[in-house]
Amino acid sequence: MSENTFLRGPKDWWRQAVVYQIYPRSFADNNGDGIGDLKGIISRVPYLKELGVDAVWLSPFYPSELADGGYDVADYRDVDPKIGNLAEFDQMIDALHAAGIRAFVDIVPNHSSDQHEWFQAALKAPKGSPERDRYIFRDGLGENGEIRPSELISHFGPTAWTRITEPDGTPGQWYLHLFAKEQPDFNWHNPQVRDDFLRTLKFWSDRGVDGFRIDVAHALVKDLSDPLPTRESYDMSVIAPNGTDRLFDRDEVHEIYATWRELFNTYDPPRVAVAEAWVEASRRPAYASEKGLGQAFNFDLLAARWDKRVFNDIIDYNVKEAVKTGSSTTWVFSNHDVVRHATRFGLPDGYDWARWYQSGGTEPKPDLALGLARAKAATLLILALPGSTYLYQGEELGLPEHAAIESDQMQDPQWFRNPGKAGSRDGCRVPLPWTSTGKSFGFGPGGSHLPQPEWFAEYAADQQDGKLGSTLTFYREALAARKKLIKDESFRWVHHFNHNVMHFRRQGSWDSITNFGDTPVRLPKGEVIIASAPIVAGHLPANATAWVRHEEQRFSFFRR
Ligand code: GLC
Ligand code: CA
Repeated sequence: MSENTFLRGPKDWWRQAVVYQIYPRSFADNNGDGIGDLKGIISRVPYLKELGVDAVWLSPFYPSELADGGYDVADYRDVDPKIGNLAEFDQMIDALHAAGIRAFVDIVPNHSSDQHEWFQAALKAPKGSPERDRYIFRDGLGENGEIRPSELISHFGPTAWTRITEPDGTPGQWYLHLFAKEQPDFNWHNPQVRDDFLRTLKFWSDRGVDGFRIDVAHALVKDLSDPLPTRESYDMSVIAPNGTDRLFDRDEVHEIYATWRELFNTYDPPRVAVAEAWVEASRRPAYASEKGLGQAFNFDLLAARWDKRVFNDIIDYNVKEAVKTGSSTTWVFSNHDVVRHATRFGLPDGYDWARWYQSGGTEPKPDLALGLARAKAATLLILALPGSTYLYQGEELGLPEHAAIESDQMQDPQWFRNPGKAGSRDGCRVPLPWTSTGKSFGFGPGGSHLPQPEWFAEYAADQQDGKLGSTLTFYREALAARKKLIKDESFRWVHHFNHNVMHFRRQGSWDSITNFGDTPVRLPKGEVIIASAPIVAGHLPANATAWVRHEEQRFSFFRR
């Protein structure tokens, strides 16, 4: 396996890794049933190798009824038969490792699927039983328990409580689900739950998995003493940022991650993990601690508008924070939960996601050329930063969001649980176009589980492969350049006279310069290593980034 030995040692491979997120059901379909599968992934390992990523992260591939795209896990230690099996999983890991690519898998510890054998057992067992104690069951209020235990909304709809029917057929207790009703929350005060996740982490670590992405890592431990918490929204501003919130980011959650860390450290190299924790920036270090998961997603740029000052503050904060805590930060613009950044950067600031989706992605209409230019500039910028970078499948093709999916074809629970009101995450989960022709644009020999638009043809990988100026070629070149250039985690700002230009230096030898403004700016002298748009007469166009080899002395920041 190729090592990035430039860091403190081979154990640190993750610190500056470029991690490519695969959404398995939408990546590549080998058997033509319209659903991406592990064999499909295996068939695309050469593509991933050529792209130059250090690792992949697989969104859930476990047995699931797909109430929430696989984040409703029915069995944590198996592969969904719709997608493959364990033997194929092992082949996939071998194929990735042989290509020098490491693998993260997604762990979903806050909730299981309602099809999980433990939840099924809880439904059959009586109130107060050990089976029910692995989840969160409460009696309802009112004379007959018909009123839900508290006014708590779920992330995907009006309430986080659902009433069950008891084994004898009478209406019974209620269970808690912070997400869809098919996703009952575990009771993390129950030692069996804790032990079982350690078993799961060991299971995948033993199969050669290198790292874990931890879903909703901040929600596991809850204070559900009476009176039960109520809540009308999950806006981050309503989460107490001091570890005392009843539902999220409680200090006790770190006791769990300390036990996970002990397990990870029994492996060589130690297994790594990254927390998906939607917490205030000041609360991230605890998740990123080397006594805990080791790294935490920094989603600050996901919500950032294209503005030098906004980017500046976020980068400055996170780079300093990483130095302080000893972890490395993460940079990400796209994933399976947000509008693809090639589209997002072409939409006006502050657009309303839900309303935009309700209009089929037409009101307002994104400026796709502008969006792609900014997306490429933004990606080249983050690839120049210290920390790891997460790329989402399809962004290397410059793929825009497909928001014009017919309502009855949508799969995202958020969409149909809030009729006429919600946005959807399906438009970034549409199966990839590999070829410009064919039934599902080369996704597989059959159809596609989410409809692909006609215009996918022009973004197909085969249309971009080997073509100068294509987005795919740009990503390949950028990743190759990054691999050669990044030698340490040093970083320093370089002052630029133009307040729309971001300029910083790495390794004391090369610079990244981004033009957030709308007129070209003159680049400093030096060899242009790579640029997100053609450099014309020494000028960096608007909405573009260039990496320039720094020339000592002859360098001048203050000339136009
Ligand atoms: C995370 C996932 C998202 C999922 C949710 C519930 O936020 O990224 O896709 O719906 O957790 O598991
Ligand atoms: Ca398939």
